[in-house]
Amino acid sequence: NVVSLKDSYKKEFYIGTALDVNQIEEKNAKEDSLIKKQFNAITAENIMKSMFVHPSKDKYDFAMSDKFIAYGEKNNMFIHGHTLIWHSQLAPWMAEIKDVAEMKAFMKNHITTIVSKYKGKIDSWDVVNEALNEDGTLRKSVFLNTLGEQYLVDAFKLAAAADPKADLYYNDYNNEEPAKRKGNIDLIKKIKEGGGKIDGVGIQAHWRLESPSIETIEESILAYSALGLKVAFTELDITVLPNPWDLKGADVNQNFEGSAKMNPYPDKLPDSVQVKLAERYASIFKLFLKHQDKISRVTFWGVHDGQSWLNDWPIKGRTNYPLLFDKNLKPKKAYQNVMKLKDTK
Ligand code: G3I
Repeated sequence: NVVSLKDSYKKEFYIGTALDVNQIEEKNAKEDSLIKKQFNAITAENIMKSMFVHPSKDKYDFAMSDKFIAYGEKNNMFIHGHTLIWHSQLAPWMAEIKDVAEMKAFMKNHITTIVSKYKGKIDSWDVVNEALNEDGTLRKSVFLNTLGEQYLVDAFKLAAAADPKADLYYNDYNNEEPAKRKGNIDLIKKIKEGGGKIDGVGIQAHWRLESPSIETIEESILAYSALGLKVAFTELDITVLPNPWDLKGADVNQNFEGSAKMNPYPDKLPDSVQVKLAERYASIFKLFLKHQDKISRVTFWGVHDGQSWLNDWPIKGRTNYPLLFDKNLKPKKAYQNVMKLKDTK
């Protein structure tokens, strides 16, 4: 009698969720029991990012990340580390590094300190996050600007040296789309040719009702696993709201806050859209099941609709419905659909 996502998919892949401070601190008992019942893998939504764990050059702050690890260990969960090298949510002092030697020293200190501290506790790492532009070229960042593309190889080498057993991932969004995927494949080859150890690729999967297509996702699973890598879906959610750039001729810099057009379902998701979302989740999980041998983990970016980052992005203060549980923690039709796929197997 299967009653949870993690039990239903136990033989196929981990079912994870992102956790932020409130959840790590078990502030809401009902939410806490839902997390423990449904998920067997966790990622820190924010607290392991560099601005939080390494706020100044000579200071690390592991108070929250220690709690996060303890939560995972206590509940026997797979623990994923997010993220070591990312251009965003950097501590201000990191963004100021201009000198090659200083950047090399930073990378060595930062990666070695964090990965060694959690050696044997963190099962896999996003070593580098979002290093690519949409066209597949390398994104300009303080890392690329100082060290050139060698920083990618160095990051993976340093992480492997600090914990040879942890699985090391490159993680990005839209890297299922052909141009970015091609750039991602080249990047993986570069890391390998440079002597770096890379075990997997994370497809974030911040998706929409209409896109990407199932074919595009499938091509990506096949292309990445053909390189000998594990494929993880690391930040899955599906927005049901329009983006400013969907509006023909819209000025994306226009202030859309408070616009009813941008927030069409402030109280309740209409049944018709609820059904579309459920069908979308069903086709995605059907594909995941088809390629279960290539997929290591499927992690949702949040526990329930009420605390999803998508309520605040790209416009603040909207009501979005991207996950399997609603804001009252009730399973949605999408949840039933994802569960049903396993009943019939
Ligand atoms: O830390 C401040 C806090 O001091 C302040 O009181 C509060 C008030 O708004 O803001 C806090 O910062 C917020 C931060 O999360 C930490 O909670 C930022 O405003 C908020 O913008 C930030 O958003 C996070 C975002 O990454 C930042 O880029 C989202 O929660 C998080 O879900 C999102 O996650 C990223 C992944 O790491 C990488 N892939 C994309 C994904 C979605 O953007």
